[in-house]
Amino acid sequence: MAAKITIVGAGNVGATAAHWAVAKELGDVVLIDIVDGLPQGKALDLAESSPIERFDCGLVGTNDYADTANSQVVVVTAGIARRPGMSRDDLLNTNAKIVADVVQNVVKHSPEAYMIVVSNPLDAMVYVAKQASGWPKHRVMGMAGVLDAARFRYFIAQELGVSVEDVHGFVLGGHGDTMVPAPRYATVTGIPITQLLSAEQITRLVQRTRDGGAEIVNYLKQGSAYYAPGASIVQMVEAIVKDKKRILPAAAYLEGEYGIRGVYVGVPVLLGAGGVEKVIEVELTAEEHAALQRSAAAVQELINALPPV
Ligand SMILES: NC(=O)c1ccc[n+]([C@@H]2O[C@H](COP(=O)([O-])OP(=O)(O)OC[C@H]3O[C@@H](n4cnc5c(N)ncnc54)[C@H](O)[C@@H]3O)[C@@H](O)[C@H]2O)c1
Repeated sequence: MAAKITIVGAGNVGATAAHWAVAKELGDVVLIDIVDGLPQGKALDLAESSPIERFDCGLVGTNDYADTANSQVVVVTAGIARRPGMSRDDLLNTNAKIVADVVQNVVKHSPEAYMIVVSNPLDAMVYVAKQASGWPKHRVMGMAGVLDAARFRYFIAQELGVSVEDVHGFVLGGHGDTMVPAPRYATVTGIPITQLLSAEQITRLVQRTRDGGAEIVNYLKQGSAYYAPGASIVQMVEAIVKDKKRILPAAAYLEGEYGIRGVYVGVPVLLGAGGVEKVIEVELTAEEHAALQRSAAAVQELINALPPV
């Protein structure tokens, strides 16, 4: 039986994730939003491309959670996005209320699902989702690391003039200014980039990665990135519905790993049919470790500032 994938929020990110998901025939997709007509229109439009692109997936657009019942994976993109001059943290109050409301509906209709939260500020919103759902940590995770790592990998490939296919790497920490790219673990077909790029080049690429979201926001002027975020979500969905046991960076709930407890931060995880099946602990230098602790502290500060939901 096809997997049932619900995407909450039929805006830029949600609709683009739906597009990548059906193009890969990952399952039947339900797109849900509070705006009447928006998910219906986008789902129908996307479905009408199926004879051309040849995918056999169910596509439903709806405002009614009953249509999302018993989803295997639920992606939460509902909320407002950044505009120029806004940080992700500026979205805290509005999106916390939206995410808590959405999660209550998700819990009611898909009690066994795996939930991937995307709304910003990401690490705080996954925390809200975990609290609001009461679900175990392996079933509630956040998407940010796949996107941040993809940006880093793209910039490395561009700098070296090599195929993106051969560039691997990940980022650690929160999805924000305290993100911790890990150049020591970035490789081109196994060759550490520290052997291929100068320290100055690496610093520049790391900074561009950290500012990757803002770079797009500044170009678009309204709204934020959605093609790469949509693809990043779908890579995580694919890992779960196909039980691929991928090792991907994701926002995971830590209980002592990396010396961090009780918050969500980006770390490499093993992602399969059991959701976050394992948090992978890699060796860090004292400097990397300190940067990760700072990042976790910044996430904790946001959690402390959350409105009662
Ligand atoms: N984690 C990441 O890496 C990442 C990347 C890109 C965007 N984002 C975040 O994802 C979110 C969505 O971005 P976007 O560009 O798609 O925004 P968007 O404004 O295009 O879409 C958001 C959609 O959410 C809907 N919505 C609002 N409240 C809702 C509710 N209660 N129930 C259901 N739907 C609701 C809106 O009607 C809208 O259609 C933003 O918070 C953005 O910051 C995160």
